Amino acid sequence: MRGRLAGKIAILVGAARGIGAGIAERFVEEAAAVIIADTAIEDGEATAARLAEFGVAQFVAGDVSDKADAERLVEVALGSFGRVDILVQNAGIYPWTLIENIEPDAATGNVHWSPSRNPGRPSSEQPGNSGGRAYTSSR
Ligand SMILES: NC(=O)c1ccc[n+]([C@@H]2O[C@H](COP(=O)([O-])OP(=O)(O)OC[C@H]3O[C@@H](n4cnc5c(N)ncnc54)[C@H](O)[C@@H]3O)[C@@H](O)[C@H]2O)c1
Repeated sequence: MRGRLAGKIAILVGAARGIGAGIAERFVEEAAAVIIADTAIEDGEATAARLAEFGVAQFVAGDVSDKADAERLVEVALGSFGRVDILVQNAGIYPWTLIENIEPDAATGNVHWSPSRNPGRPSSEQPGNSGGRAYTSSR
């Protein structure tokens, strides 16, 4: 099926590669306009360029654990598309509760892992961790 997300504007955090890039590709296949937000500039630009060949895709560099970066990301999205319909937060772990119950500091504080320092162990053991647990088996 194609076009189920026609007219929708989506921010996808952590979509330069991996699962997030796969989600972005499916969103574009379904006709969403996607904003790929990631710290990985080279991968992010390449993914956005690839997806822009068959849809609407834009890359915005930024670290969503940094509140100013996160706010700038939304401003860029609003500047480009006028609104945001969908947020896919693929780059970290949130507390297991309704999103409206999450304080901004708690949410961003749990987006702390990165592939460069993730040796495949619970991220609570890694430097800079705020106590949440993120684990990836990707690398
Ligand atoms: N791979 C798995 O088996 C698996 C299983 C379950 C859950 N997950 C979860 O799925 C998500 C994606 O996994 P993946 O394997 O595709 O990872 P990946 O490392 O391939 O991709 C993650 C992307 O997020 C970006 N990123 C990380 N921190 C960021 C930050 N603070 N701001 C902006 N971008 C940031 C990275 O640069 C990278 O492009 C993760 O949350 C992971 O914990 C993965």
